[in-house]
Amino acid sequence: MKLLGIESSCDETAAAVVENGRRVLSNIVDSQVEEHRLYGGVVPEIASRRHCEAISQVVKLALEEAGCSLAELDGIAVTVAPGLIGALLVGVNFAKGLAMASGKPLIPVHHIRGHVAANYIDGKVKPPFLCMIMSGSHSHIVEVQDYTHYRIIGRTRDDAVGEAYDKAGRVLGFSYPAGVEMDAAARQGDPTVYHLPRPKVEGSPFDFSFSGLKTAMINLSHNAKQKGISLQVKDAAAAFQQAVCDMIAPRLMAAAAETGYKTIVLAGGVSANSGIRTRMEAECQKAGCTLIAPPLCYCGDNAAMIAAQGYYEFLAEHTAKSDLNAMPSWPIDKEFAG
Ligand code: KG4
Ligand code: ZN
Repeated sequence: MKLLGIESSCDETAAAVVENGRRVLSNIVDSQVEEHRLYGGVVPEIASRRHCEAISQVVKLALEEAGCSLAELDGIAVTVAPGLIGALLVGVNFAKGLAMASGKPLIPVHHIRGHVAANYIDGKVKPPFLCMIMSGSHSHIVEVQDYTHYRIIGRTRDDAVGEAYDKAGRVLGFSYPAGVEMDAAARQGDPTVYHLPRPKVEGSPFDFSFSGLKTAMINLSHNAKQKGISLQVKDAAAAFQQAVCDMIAPRLMAAAAETGYKTIVLAGGVSANSGIRTRMEAECQKAGCTLIAPPLCYCGDNAAMIAAQGYYEFLAEHTAKSDLNAMPSWPIDKEFAG
């Protein structure tokens, strides 16, 4: 079964054709990041306009590269939530038009479910498993019970880990989105030169708070500036990365111990992080667990992951009609009405 996936929830216009949820026939990503970099973050109006300009060509290229016509597709999967509403609407309306014109099923896909499904691509992992979702707007520990059922075990109370990376990186002089450069700098730095906090939250042993860590980095940078001292950027990045690992690893391992899962899966843009991967690999080995992380090319936003999840949504008969609407927020564990 061949599905076209369409993704436009943030600053990437993407389309892909994936066979049976696991074999990628094409994967086109048109990133707008250079345009948003000037403003230090995503500007929603610019994102919507760029999606409108790019989407026809991106979808055309994805079909061409897959050697697949619209008529040969079995369905059209599209990111419906969560994300920037104006950006989501471009993909949803384009997908609705294609589905109506071709008579193919329309399959709404939750963006974060898509990030989880990035692990199915070219891989053997199957639910159930425990998953740490880390993106620019989400940080969740989730039990993936099967391909379309989830239970949230832990979540951030404030910022997402990717957001904390981007803001902390900004004060260190890295351009948006700062995660990749922070990661590279951290690998060359000494994490013991600066000390950053590992904030705890009351109420749940599995919840996170990343805003305190972000603020601590901002304060470290401001204090250094006020004293006329130059901060050692690589050491500060290493201290930040160490603190993030120290916050994620114990919560995730405690959730694994409590739920009994032996397979731990990483998902989302921040799952590309080398420090988190290395730390979690070591923790999993100690606990007799297996760590799975997506191939680096499928960690960030892409449409192959949307088509991959779309396959399982389709098998579960989660299709939509032409009144499908995009939603800026929607819980991962709730089905779409429609
Ligand atoms: O999942 P994603 O591509 O988009 C959202 O759905 O939000 O995640 C983007 C986030 C950004 O905050 C970016 O800085 C971060 O992922 N990121 C990283 C790395 N690569 C991307 N953060 C830390 N280390 C990385 N290697
Ligand atoms: Zn994403």
